[in-house]
Amino acid sequence: MTYILAIESSCDDTSAAIICNNKILSNVIANQQVHELYGGVVPELASRAHQQNIIPVVDLAIKKAGIQANQLNAIAFTKGPGLLGSLLVGCSFAKTFALSLNIPLIEVDHLEAHILSHFIKDTDEQCIPEFPFLCLLVSGGHTQIILMKDYFTMEIIGQTIDDAAGEAFDKAAKIMSLPYPGGPLVDKFAKEGNPYTFLFSEPNISGLDFSFSGLKTSFLYFIRDNLKTNPNFIEENKNDLCASIQHIIINVLLKKLIKAAKQTGIKQLAIAGGVSANSALRDRLKQTCDEMGWEAFIPKFEYSTDNAAMIAIAAYFKFLKKDFTKLNISPYARSK
Ligand code: KG4
Ligand code: ZN
Repeated sequence: MTYILAIESSCDDTSAAIICNNKILSNVIANQQVHELYGGVVPELASRAHQQNIIPVVDLAIKKAGIQANQLNAIAFTKGPGLLGSLLVGCSFAKTFALSLNIPLIEVDHLEAHILSHFIKDTDEQCIPEFPFLCLLVSGGHTQIILMKDYFTMEIIGQTIDDAAGEAFDKAAKIMSLPYPGGPLVDKFAKEGNPYTFLFSEPNISGLDFSFSGLKTSFLYFIRDNLKTNPNFIEENKNDLCASIQHIIINVLLKKLIKAAKQTGIKQLAIAGGVSANSALRDRLKQTCDEMGWEAFIPKFEYSTDNAAMIAIAAYFKFLKKDFTKLNISPYARSK
């Protein structure tokens, strides 16, 4: 049995998880409400909240797992990408804990971890993807189609040339004066709306790349123009606006994923990252795969948005390879 404590602190969630081989024993997440007041994550406040949360969150994760700290075989942490001040809190804590227990330290890339969350085996019946498979990685900062050849061998075959899909959701929400983070709220209101009420043109980008900035601008102008004649336009049409913009974002994402599947001949399609929590994206991917005779891999809701369980599974595969990290490591803010 291999027990690993994993810590995730790349943005505004402080999370700690305990994994036993490939089974998650606990996954504790402390969200930071402080940013809601500012309409986005304030890096300095995020670091401070991580400092306050990290010890209670780790303590709870160990207790919930029903183990003792001295049973741990390694400590893992998110090395990047993310907010540097936030990453430093998790990294420093992990180093100190690993040193005090005299066990190995494991660094994990946040984006790799999102994808590898598909290998967490919570139940014996659960299907996990086989290599090669395609993963649509959609988060607040990234939108990529990744060809997964092995756990740590991957090729980016398409990506956004401007905004990420999560940003498109959050910016559309902000235009409608919804609080941050807007993605989950757009999802919620869209459930009551008609996706065909308002039509926005889809970006025309070649190959497997994406673009969302034009869509955001046309949404902004559309709302601005309608507010001139009806100051209550947003309030009166909130559900339909959310459903319509969500529908377009998902069209863009799925069209490219389907194109990638046809181009590569790969029939196993996965989604990962915060936007993979979106209920319509989950439903439509499943429906598309059913129609095409392909296989859809949709992460459990709690493993979609930022969490330490995904860091733990990535760390487990690194532990098996004895891929350990030296104590003089420092995090990186941008993708490597
Ligand atoms: O992976 P994640 O939790 O953090 C990053 O690594 O960026 O992704 C956060 C993003 C945010 O843009 C958030 O609005 C979006 O994921 N998101 C959603 C939903 N839940 C989270 N977007 C659409 N629908 C959702 N249900
Ligand atoms: Zn993430």
